[in-house]
Amino acid sequence: MRSRHAPSTAPGSAPLAPLDGLPAIAIAPEWKQQQRLWGHAFHPMCSYLAMFPAGLAHAFIARYTRPGDVVLDPFSGRGTTPLQACAEGRMGIGNDLNPFAHLLTAAKLDPPAWAELVARLAVLRVRWSTESAVWLALGREAVESADLQSVRVPTAGGRDGDAPLPVEVALAFHPDTLGQLLFVRRALDLDERTDRFLGAALSGILHGKSQSYLTEVMPNTFSMAPRYVRDFVARTRFHSPQRDVFACLEMKLRRLYRQGLPPVRGIALLGDARDAGVRTLETLRRRSLPEGARLVVTSPPYLRVVRYGYYNWLRLWLLGFDPGAVDAALDDDHRLDGYLAFLRDVFAGLRPGLADDAVVVAVIGDVEFDRGRRMNGGVGLAETVWEAAAAPEGYRLAGVARDDVAAHRKMTKIWGDEAGRATKTDRILVMATSEAGRRRALVGSALPVDWTWPPRRPLRVV
Ligand SMILES: C[S@@+](CC[C@H](N)C(=O)[O-])C[C@H]1O[C@@H](n2cnc3c(N)ncnc32)[C@H](O)[C@@H]1O
Repeated sequence: MRSRHAPSTAPGSAPLAPLDGLPAIAIAPEWKQQQRLWGHAFHPMCSYLAMFPAGLAHAFIARYTRPGDVVLDPFSGRGTTPLQACAEGRMGIGNDLNPFAHLLTAAKLDPPAWAELVARLAVLRVRWSTESAVWLALGREAVESADLQSVRVPTAGGRDGDAPLPVEVALAFHPDTLGQLLFVRRALDLDERTDRFLGAALSGILHGKSQSYLTEVMPNTFSMAPRYVRDFVARTRFHSPQRDVFACLEMKLRRLYRQGLPPVRGIALLGDARDAGVRTLETLRRRSLPEGARLVVTSPPYLRVVRYGYYNWLRLWLLGFDPGAVDAALDDDHRLDGYLAFLRDVFAGLRPGLADDAVVVAVIGDVEFDRGRRMNGGVGLAETVWEAAAAPEGYRLAGVARDDVAAHRKMTKIWGDEAGRATKTDRILVMATSEAGRRRALVGSALPVDWTWPPRRPLRVV
């Protein structure tokens, strides 16, 4: 497709070569040169599929906002953008339709004080010491009868009485670890701030390949299919070593709290990105905050690449969410036309929540393969998204930046080489809601970014 757009440059700098027909913007992916866990210590609370690094959010927060500005992500996932915004003294708002993503985002944006966590953990330990016999017996019964039948166990939070325990859950854990998990899962009230943080941190240590996880039956990045778990356990005669839930959780909490709390408490919304703008505006008004986000940093779902319910089924079991219902609700199953129509609705729906000179940064991955078949229109998807979804809604394009390696690395790690080809290149659309915003985006692109983390002087924002 021939470009209809002149190359964009910061005033006074040389023009850049266009990328796939779109004007390039001079924002180098410096986030790739930072250490792996760059950013606030809450970020690695729990792995999340297709998450972007905190440094990517910082590259735009540092250029395009000041302390006190509102930063929004309508597809917040694990909460990368709003958490990093709060950590830098901005008001971070995250929205997601996936209740698991909302839980992670809310835990990070509205965390308890360390003393509250310690006190709650102490109460849980005392209750465990008096009730453990019952729960340990239940854990043993579940594991011993896993081949024959499933045992009924209390549901998460005790909301719905009891329900059969999936056999694959029983196969994944040591019986004593399972007993402790069943107890904690029943005790936590995820609507409450401290318990929500504990639930989110617990889901982060549920499975992974080291001693800090509660089972090593599967990697930390996502849940292997239930059938894989059954086959793996039978083939390798897998028996999980015993892991103490309280000790592992306490170690995790200490790692998460090593930088203290972010200086600003953010806002996590649960809902469809299509009406995130109106809900953001209402929330800002209710709290007498500035009306409208000055920056959006987001990455919409990839085309039919990730199923957030299915690939998180074990964590969702822990938290009491239904994987099938999650996948049915999310927009991660569109073919190209439906995807573009969806994103157009999203860009239209965002506008009420944006400031007049807002900068909108959208990370769009290429999708070469659709469930194993080469697909048309997936490469250079960012250009198509710009032309079919953002431009018709009146956005102004400042330019597109490329991020080759990060996308390749993250998706290849997840599904192996075949599916790794699903997303090779991320293109980053830098857009604005007005000509003033577009000029702001261009001028900001030339600004140097400070990558010192944690900041030398902790930010104090009241
Ligand atoms: C690529 S991920 C975002 C990852 C995020 N940037 C991070 O760093 O964790 C896309 C997100 O879109 C969410 N999603 C899918 N359909 C949605 C919809 N209609 N409204 C809001 N969120 C949706 C998914 O739950 C997923 O968290």
